[in-house]
Amino acid sequence: MNFKQIGVSFKGSGSYVPNQILTNSKISNKVDTSDEWIKSRTGISQRRISGLEESVTQMGYKAAMSAIQMTKWDIETIDLIVLATSTPNDLFGSAPGIQAKLGANNAVAFDLTAACSGFLFALITASQFLKGGTYKRAIVIGADQMSSYVDWNDRRSCILFGDGAGAIAIEATNEFDNLIGFNMRTDGRKGSFLNLPSNKKKDSIIDNIEFSSGGFSPIQMNGQEVYKFAVREVPLIIQDLFKKVNYNSDKVDWLLLHQANQRILDSVGDKLKFSKGKILSNLQNYGNTSAGTIPLMMDEAIRKKTIKQNDIIATSGFGAGLSWGAALIKWG
Ligand code: ACO
Repeated sequence: MNFKQIGVSFKGSGSYVPNQILTNSKISNKVDTSDEWIKSRTGISQRRISGLEESVTQMGYKAAMSAIQMTKWDIETIDLIVLATSTPNDLFGSAPGIQAKLGANNAVAFDLTAACSGFLFALITASQFLKGGTYKRAIVIGADQMSSYVDWNDRRSCILFGDGAGAIAIEATNEFDNLIGFNMRTDGRKGSFLNLPSNKKKDSIIDNIEFSSGGFSPIQMNGQEVYKFAVREVPLIIQDLFKKVNYNSDKVDWLLLHQANQRILDSVGDKLKFSKGKILSNLQNYGNTSAGTIPLMMDEAIRKKTIKQNDIIATSGFGAGLSWGAALIKWG
């Protein structure tokens, strides 16, 4: 350890989505909505729903394995696995389960929770271990099984979410830094706009010793407030990042935003003067997979050779917390 590195390079990507497809028209058999309403308000046509055998650990494992295969690394050389998720299999942490399935026996593995900003925060966190010289190789995973926590009777929120995972492999280098810059923000005062809260119930163990039994309520969301927050704050945090690292949208090849709503993507793109062709979007097929969206989109674009070696990507995650962040990346 202590490699005295100065930066990170991006070495591989992977992703996984469940096979079950839930189309808008199928949702309209459950709640009072329509394909036309959902498409025009969100851009989403369908989403994937985990089957009974699928989970954050299983999706995260598949995505991570596919990223590792792209790198051709020996699995034993991986030092760090960070799993961004809000919907773990195990509240004590799901990353160790992924480590075990991978056979990455020399890696330390832990979970990080920051909802839809989770992947971005995990990428930045892992990068600090690499830039500081502590570790050399890391896998950063974003995986969420939102279907388990969506209120499938609430038409204002259930139409948005789906399940999926993505992963990125990064390596320390002493030659350059392809994580060009980043920004992170949180405003807990506005946390009530989007929650997946515990619904603790009063119980007693014995005599006067009371305790709260655990459990969670479905997702609660004030859609309009979250929308306003995203279209206001995301352009600002990206502009601030551009200023810090002396960039502008002309020098950026791709805008890769958390895939929440096509109208949010278009509005942020307009404000930052990105042409439509530079805004990456796949939410039509998957909806909002929370921590999964950014690496899932990244992996698709890399495998289709839309994102090429040395392309510059401005990325931003935003959501519950409220939390939001941005990073400027050179792929490779
Ligand atoms: N089908 C049909 N009608 C609907 C539906 C639906 N699925 N949902 C709401 N409506 C109705 C409402 O009841 C309302 O009717 P009313 O005027 O008679 O009361 C009308 O449509 C308009 O409702 P709004 O809530 O104003 O609709 P809006 O245009 O804001 O779209 C949406 C709602 C799509 C949720 C939008 O606000 C949005 O995308 N917000 C961002 C949410 C988000 O991205 N959340 C995830 C963040 S990431 C994370 O951390 C998990």
